[in-house]
Amino acid sequence: MAQDAARLHSTLSLAPVVPVIIHDDVDTARALAEALVAGGLKVLEVTLRTPNALKVIAEMAKVEGAIVGSGTVRKLDDMKASQDAGCQFMVSPGAPVKLLEDAEAIDPPLLPGVTSPTEAMAASLMGYSFLKFFPAEAMGGAPVLKSFASPLPDLKFCPTGGIDLFKAKSYLALSNVICVGGSWVVPGDAIAAGDFDKIVALAAEAAALKG
Ligand code: 3PG
Repeated sequence: MAQDAARLHSTLSLAPVVPVIIHDDVDTARALAEALVAGGLKVLEVTLRTPNALKVIAEMAKVEGAIVGSGTVRKLDDMKASQDAGCQFMVSPGAPVKLLEDAEAIDPPLLPGVTSPTEAMAASLMGYSFLKFFPAEAMGGAPVLKSFASPLPDLKFCPTGGIDLFKAKSYLALSNVICVGGSWVVPGDAIAAGDFDKIVALAAEAAALKG
């Protein structure tokens, strides 16, 4: 099976913004996910960049309404671990052929990252129609992604990297964008201070971008 596009479509349609979470504290994982869901952001990407990331994912997956996936997936072991932790989707910064092939044996669908029409076409030839555009702002931002839409109309993107509330609007206006990813809704200082009201407010502001 190639990418389960129907499943990714329904997941990534649930909210306009996917928080990109770098979090290591298992004890506060649940409160963080609850704050994001309370604000209206249900689809959460937890990057595999911290020692406890998989435990954080498992905790967040217990939160009612949360759809938790892994990020920074780079190899088959990351995908197996993501599956075991209960992930409902996986995100990678890139799209190496081996990763895309290996993903076929894993249940949660993979959203691979691309930066160019050639990379998008290579992924498309392997059956991947939902892609991450990363690093979005550094690669030219919304004007570049907009220019992918006419020649590659069947491919849909989640731009991520350098996006904030204001920039998100210009991406979400594009026909080939299903959602955007970003860490601006999960600022480290608010999390460190236990200021989950701030997270709820940021999430609500981002969730309101829909429509
Ligand atoms: C990442 O993988 O770090 C994401 O692209 C998040 O980017 P941001 O921190 O610029 O939102």
